Amino acid sequence: MPIRVRIQPSPIAGQGLFAAQEIKRGTRIIPYVGEKIAKAESVKRLRAGNAYIFAFNARYNIDGEGLDNTARYINHSCDPNCLVEQTATTLWIVAMRRIKAGEELTYNYGYEAKKYRCNCGAPQCCGYILDEEYWS
Ligand SMILES: C[S@@+](CC[C@H](N)C(=O)[O-])C[C@H]1O[C@@H](n2cnc3c(N)ncnc32)[C@H](O)[C@@H]1O
Ligand SMILES: [Zn+2]
Repeated sequence: MPIRVRIQPSPIAGQGLFAAQEIKRGTRIIPYVGEKIAKAESVKRLRAGNAYIFAFNARYNIDGEGLDNTARYINHSCDPNCLVEQTATTLWIVAMRRIKAGEELTYNYGYEAKKYRCNCGAPQCCGYILDEEYWS
């Protein structure tokens, strides 16, 4: 059974993705789908302002900009309720804990530099869209 989610305006940024039902911890909610592109092509697309590129492995990234990629609406949080699980073929958005109907889905984007200010609103927000590993 597909997990029910909906796209709606987010207090974090633009549109966000919200749970439309209770979701149990460990559930694979939706895949992050898109075009598989080489790293060099990713650099070009990132420079052109594409905010939907996800690192997949040492050779390839996934460009999830397509509107069929519902996971593209998931915002970053410093206190996320989801994580991204990578299998050989798929990037899955997985619930890190029980998520109630109506909660916004978030994961940590895992950025390595303090480049973008974060608006997640979590009490422990580090101020930037940044992997916890780099919080100081
Ligand atoms: C993958 S999109 C997420 C969906 C986006 N809100 C939309 O309406 O299409 C990533 C972009 O959303 C915004 N964003 C996501 N999380 C954010 C956060 N915690 N603080 C500020 N902006 C955020 C940034 O502009 C980022 O480049
Ligand atoms: Zn934050």
